[in-house]
Amino acid sequence: MKRALVSDIHGNLDALICVLADIQDQGIETIFCLGDVIGYGPDPQACIDAVMNFDLCILGNHDQAALFDPEGFSSTAERAIFWTRQQLECTDTNNADQKRRWQFLAELPRTKQVGDYLFVHGSARSPLNEYVFPEDIYNRRKLEKIFSLIPQYCFQGHTHIPGIFTEDFRFLSPAEVNFKYQLTDEKSMVNVGSIGQPRDGDCRSCYVILDDADNSIEFRRIKYDVSLTSQKIYDISDLDKFLGDRLHDGK
Ligand SMILES: [Fe+2]
Repeated sequence: MKRALVSDIHGNLDALICVLADIQDQGIETIFCLGDVIGYGPDPQACIDAVMNFDLCILGNHDQAALFDPEGFSSTAERAIFWTRQQLECTDTNNADQKRRWQFLAELPRTKQVGDYLFVHGSARSPLNEYVFPEDIYNRRKLEKIFSLIPQYCFQGHTHIPGIFTEDFRFLSPAEVNFKYQLTDEKSMVNVGSIGQPRDGDCRSCYVILDDADNSIEFRRIKYDVSLTSQKIYDISDLDKFLGDRLHDGK
């Protein structure tokens, strides 16, 4: 079976719509989201509504921050979360829809294991909050510990930087593997990238197709109208202008 693995949508509906169209074009019906549906972006409600139809969604640190309180967030991220929370608050007119969204967020799991695959937002060691960056290949103790906690393959997001971490301490970017990779008998961690706020210098959305028949993966980069989303951000005073600017840079 082929699954689409998306992550870090961050309230970017315009990007999500283009990615969902591509997923449909590929004939894929199963979609897993690895967290951070909201935070930063201008369309949190519509993004939650879309993700409710997916087959799985994992809790991300921004989803949790909207539910409870942001911890260790920058002032930009914190203001965005408070604005996002306002959008999700219940009023008399929208009570049923808002309750459904809030309930959905509150029930998201922190991890999910399916056979040899583990799905998390951050890392197997700290599913919500730990970043595994490409430069962590030089921090062998960290990677060894995290690898010891995964069954065979772990799929994650959180850094918004797609690529593959191998058990022999290499990081392979999507371009380095020509966007396709055959998982081996060794353990691997795969960062699936970000739909709504890519940070690897490419402003296009990134997601992964996983084929469990042969353990192959494909990274897909999808264009969307960045100017449309950044303008929506500029029009909301509680969202820092920087959040719109960075979409153009992919950083
Ligand atoms: Fe994120």
